[in-house]
Amino acid sequence: MHFLFWTAAGVLVAGTILRAEPQIDVENRVNALLARMTLDEKIGQMSQSTSMKTPLAESIKAEIRAGRWGSFLNAGSPADRAEAQRIAIHESRLGIPLLFGRDVIHGYKTVFPIPLGQAATWDRELVEQAAREAATEAATEGIRWTFAPMIDIARDPRWGRVAESLGEDPYLASALATAMVRGFQGKSLADALSVAACAKHFVGYGAAEAGRDYNSAWIPEILLREVYLPPFRAARDSGVATFMTGFEALNGVPATGNRFLLRDILRGEWKYDGLVVSDYEAVTEMIRHGFARDASDAAREAATAGIDMEMVSTAYHDHLKSLVERGAVEPAQIDAAVRNILRLKFRLGLFDEQIPPVGEAKPNAESLALAERAALESVVLLKNESGLLPLTEARRTVAVIGPLADSPLDQMGTWTMDGLRDRVETPLAALRSIMGADRVLYAPGLQTSRDTSDAGFAGAVDAARRSDVVLLFLGEEQILSGEARSRAFLDLPGAQEALFTNVLRAGKPVVVVIMAGRPLTFHSVAERARAVLYAWHPGTMGGPAIAQLLLGRRAPSGRLPITFPRSVGQVPIYYAHLNTGRPPSETELGIPMGTPLRPEGYTSKYIDVDFTPEYPFGYGLSYTTFEYSNLTISAPVLHAGQKLTVSAQIANRGKREGTETVQFYVRDLVASVVQPVRKLRGFERVTLQAGESRTVSFTLTPQDLAFYNQQMKLVTEPGKFQVWIAPDAVRGAMGEFELQ
Ligand code: BGC
Repeated sequence: MHFLFWTAAGVLVAGTILRAEPQIDVENRVNALLARMTLDEKIGQMSQSTSMKTPLAESIKAEIRAGRWGSFLNAGSPADRAEAQRIAIHESRLGIPLLFGRDVIHGYKTVFPIPLGQAATWDRELVEQAAREAATEAATEGIRWTFAPMIDIARDPRWGRVAESLGEDPYLASALATAMVRGFQGKSLADALSVAACAKHFVGYGAAEAGRDYNSAWIPEILLREVYLPPFRAARDSGVATFMTGFEALNGVPATGNRFLLRDILRGEWKYDGLVVSDYEAVTEMIRHGFARDASDAAREAATAGIDMEMVSTAYHDHLKSLVERGAVEPAQIDAAVRNILRLKFRLGLFDEQIPPVGEAKPNAESLALAERAALESVVLLKNESGLLPLTEARRTVAVIGPLADSPLDQMGTWTMDGLRDRVETPLAALRSIMGADRVLYAPGLQTSRDTSDAGFAGAVDAARRSDVVLLFLGEEQILSGEARSRAFLDLPGAQEALFTNVLRAGKPVVVVIMAGRPLTFHSVAERARAVLYAWHPGTMGGPAIAQLLLGRRAPSGRLPITFPRSVGQVPIYYAHLNTGRPPSETELGIPMGTPLRPEGYTSKYIDVDFTPEYPFGYGLSYTTFEYSNLTISAPVLHAGQKLTVSAQIANRGKREGTETVQFYVRDLVASVVQPVRKLRGFERVTLQAGESRTVSFTLTPQDLAFYNQQMKLVTEPGKFQVWIAPDAVRGAMGEFELQ
């Protein structure tokens, strides 16, 4: 391993005096430093740049010396960062260290499943460990700030950034946001291998109208408080070091100039003392939004709203000084922002004498094992007709077909600029190594997921004919999801469905494995395939994970963190909806896709597709079956200040071990603000041996039943409630109690 060290030799700048006094608390150190800063230096701290070329240009070095930048993002090699830091500490007037930020979203060199895939694990501890590993690798290379987790509630799979999200549900997203923050930040921010996390994008960015990225969001305050804010509140409560604002205009006011969000809620109600950064050029984008007249106006709006640091655009740099001199921005506002920035730098230990060495991060046996476990747990089994999976030994020869079977880059998914492509193990490679190359016939059929040529079909069909079972890897390429990757159609792109249809004609059972960054619509494929595994973009070790699941060395345990629509026309579709005055009934199901054959009845449904989702939130099969029974509630009535315990028996009725994610839902039957048909209030992963059963319990307090009333007060109202202990958001064992 190659190390670069900073040396402190012969340097006596003011910054080192501060560094030598670790006993005084952070706030005193912040104030002492702030008192010595010029306005220019303060504005420098409030500015973040991405322009760090390799090798470090002399002009950048000069700017760092002059205190022009507080932070760099996605910039430089580890050696450049080390050198830039040396200059900041030893050659700038006050020796204030730089903070290097980067999009370390789901892994660094070792890539874990995309966040949506991680959410499908419903495994807090695993998600925390994945973030810890990502932090360790990134910090080794001098990154001490990641722009993750993205905790925008996402209910629209057209939005490409659904891949980066933790799904549709505030409770699940809050639990996993907490896990990620813990993982990134470790036990202490001051630990050299901790990175500051960033709760983004505050808030409502995921509600972009029509799923089109950057689009406006209109979210009534009640929905904001019930659905969109909770993950951010959870991140704040777990000590997240930073927040990033969204690109969108929320209710007509850009999130980046939104005083209600930043001042009233974040700083006011939540007493947040961390750093708030804008998104990329979002400050000056307020001009195009039609909210600011020019860059000066944008700087004023952003600074006044409470954006501490401007990402990439330079409105602060160019205008804040004159705004302060003109009295348009209060000096106290600048000081407050700089305090938030310095506080974080102190908390990260950046001022302290021991600057860690910058090394080279590499995947290792442990990180790969963790990535494999994460991929294993993220895969959701959607269909398994007559127990085709796991494959038995009788399936001697497999045909591996499809554009995603052997595509390392695509398998890593969005935001993987640091992921090591040559360390990725694809399903093809893994199957060959486990089964022996002679038992694996490979014919991709299509070059990429968007390929429309049928030139490879004949080879694929031929391989299918010669096999005992077809493993067809379909989905979306890496670049079809993520930022600015909105789609108006959710079908399998290119000629993938045609490939499937052709391969099917070979007459062999077909297992479809889908790798994608979002829920896709693939009804007709799912209908005709014998088994379907949804693998998201599973990361570095996706191949071995999928191979082990197919071959039954492990059993699938992923559960959907987001509702899968039957058709894009149903979007947005999510489980925690309100009932309407005319809810449709089960008897209205069975409408064939796309044919308005039964335009009868005046209920809230579609006349050309079932109103139900293709797969509900929480859904996922295993290689065994679980039975839910004996729901018991510890008392018929819940009184203020008390608790209820709700329990049910979960039995493994199959022939092999399996892991079930037991979900706990509540419904408030009558309230002064109509409540969703179900709300998730707990979940637990349980592993049961064949034949084993276990009682799983959840506790419920009146706070768990609280909601925002018409006056935006969090209240509980007496009345009847239903509870479910359930395998997903639509089934389960149900009970009732009363809140008094
Ligand atoms: C994204 C952010 C990201 C930033 C820096 C923006 O375009 O919206 O999520 O952290 O770029 O790369």
